[in-house]
Amino acid sequence: MIEIIDLTKKYGKFTALDKLNLTIEKGSVFGFVGQNGAGKSTTFSILATLLSPTAGTAYINGFNITKDPKAVRNQIGYMPDFFGIYDQLKTVEYLDFYGASYGISQSERKKLIPQLLELVNLTHKQDSYVDVLSRGMKQRLCLARSLIHDPEVLILDEPASGLDPRARVEMREILKELKSMGKTILISSHILPELAEMCDTIGIIDQGRLVAQGSVAEIQQRLEGDKLIIVKLHSNLERAIQFFEDQPAVSRLVKGEDGNSFQFIFTGNAEEQMQLLKTGLNHDLAIVSFAEVETNLEDIFMEITKGVELT
Ligand SMILES: Nc1ncnc2c1ncn2[C@@H]1O[C@H](COP(=O)(O)OP(=O)(O)OP(=O)(O)O)[C@@H](O)[C@H]1O
Ligand SMILES: [Mg+2]
Repeated sequence: MIEIIDLTKKYGKFTALDKLNLTIEKGSVFGFVGQNGAGKSTTFSILATLLSPTAGTAYINGFNITKDPKAVRNQIGYMPDFFGIYDQLKTVEYLDFYGASYGISQSERKKLIPQLLELVNLTHKQDSYVDVLSRGMKQRLCLARSLIHDPEVLILDEPASGLDPRARVEMREILKELKSMGKTILISSHILPELAEMCDTIGIIDQGRLVAQGSVAEIQQRLEGDKLIIVKLHSNLERAIQFFEDQPAVSRLVKGEDGNSFQFIFTGNAEEQMQLLKTGLNHDLAIVSFAEVETNLEDIFMEITKGVELT
């Protein structure tokens, strides 16, 4: 279980993390999503005890990240968002090196490493030099490395970034397998749909603050209550804008560039949507079309990170 309490990180005057609070239950796969610079890697580095927080704290399986970093490191497997340079090291030697640094005995490493290579589908590359592996392979090797001491909690910083669709599917399968082994997984991405496929719960971070949190279904449900509607007018655009702006269920109305349309966010069900159109027509508005635009998780992410709070 991971507990993050008022976690704050300042780089000089700049606040990268602003009182972040989050609880991640044991055995869940939690997706941390946010734009570039939102604070994902900062959070993960702090949880991995590689960076000190300015204020606040976090616990991993009850161990405090600043008071007991050694115990925390035994609990977690951390996959950073970069892969270092390992000149002249073969895949199997790389894992052996990390295994040894965790104090795993040579005989145990001999048993463990083939299993890990199999899990991440790299058995055929065990004698390749690490530096010549493809990006997707390096990513999988990095994941294998983070698993070497059989940690209960995995902190994976953008494990799927830069992978082709096939490699992403493979990564998802590996994560599924890890979840079935009972591991608690914290994973980040800047692509919400990518995480939605692999996580039970999602938190959206923006400018160092958590702006939404919930199950994928909950986030989708909230999205269903909010629709983007585009209205096209034959004439009298301003009068129509005035009418829609006065409706309580309408927000964030924006004029179209073509000069005869506008769009807005409508909060309500289908019945209320129909009523809105009916009332508009009863007001003699020259509506040519009134169309709901298909939204998806990506759109809602864009909406939220524009500063609109979901909850
Ligand atoms: N060492 C540092 N010194 C100064 N500012 C930093 C440092 N590390 C990160 N930052 C700033 O903190 C903010 C959060 O960075 P962070 O790397 O946590 O974002 P991220 O969500 O991981 O983004 P990305 O999707 O690009 O990986 C950014 O504005 C970044 O410029
Ligand atoms: Mg990052």
